[in-house]
Amino acid sequence: MNNLVSMKDLSIDQIHEILNQAQAFRDGNTSSLKSKYTVSNLFFEPSTRTKMSFEMAERKLNLEVLPFEAGFSSTLKGETLYDTVKVLESIGLDALVIRHEQNNYFEELVGKVKPAIINGGDGTGNHPTQSLLDIYTIWQEFGTLLDKKITIVGDINHSRVARSNADAFSRLGAKVQFVCPSEWKGEFEAVHEFDEVIEDSDVLMMLRVQHERHDGKKPFAKEQYHQMYGLTIEREQKMKKSAIIMHPAPFNRGVEIASELVECNRSRIFKQMENGVYVRMAVIEMILKGRE
Ligand code: CP
Repeated sequence: MNNLVSMKDLSIDQIHEILNQAQAFRDGNTSSLKSKYTVSNLFFEPSTRTKMSFEMAERKLNLEVLPFEAGFSSTLKGETLYDTVKVLESIGLDALVIRHEQNNYFEELVGKVKPAIINGGDGTGNHPTQSLLDIYTIWQEFGTLLDKKITIVGDINHSRVARSNADAFSRLGAKVQFVCPSEWKGEFEAVHEFDEVIEDSDVLMMLRVQHERHDGKKPFAKEQYHQMYGLTIEREQKMKKSAIIMHPAPFNRGVEIASELVECNRSRIFKQMENGVYVRMAVIEMILKGRE
């Protein structure tokens, strides 16, 4: 694997290889990379988790990490993404993690530039390392995704997490279903009554309402959305005993999830973030090893 821009880049065997390596890192194994590689994280959209988690993963792998601040870069003087990447190639970067608001921004880079491209999120398209850390978290919980009923709830149409997970979860044998208002279903088949699917779900994955992608339209007031599509305390009480709550975060307390549930016993939200570091270590190592 030379780049990772979409979950479709990964075979089932490669996904399992990443899970096993993430677990090995979690258990204390250290990197077996032979060279001192230099990487950078180019985030043109806001991020707390993905950016910091990649940086932590890179430091744990003993990589050189060059800081890049999109808001102080020459992209503000009109330099294109392609030209920015060529600059970083020229000065010797080996791998770049990129988050960009444009869907499929990577198409103009992959195969045309030397640094490996790792997608940290493209518009509403893909978020492969979020998908991998979600898979790892479910795998850690149940030992498999096979036949697990995973319900993804919320702003599906604007969610790169939903898109990446829909493909990958299904390939791993999970039964994936979507719950959302009809306005936000996009290309997915979705049910609109959340209460119909709670009791038999093994995983409830709540999504953030992405107001920044709604062109100013607000079809729901916060409390109205919470009552219709939010994980309320009443709904949590109807969940299976073994079922877990996930959310890629950032979460809006009191909108898609009741504030009291964010850190409840069945919430794996902070576990997902913890797992992200190990999964990203495994991805970066796999890509850089391909260059040795
Ligand atoms: N889950 C996720 O991508 O969070 P950030 O936007 O904070 O990176």
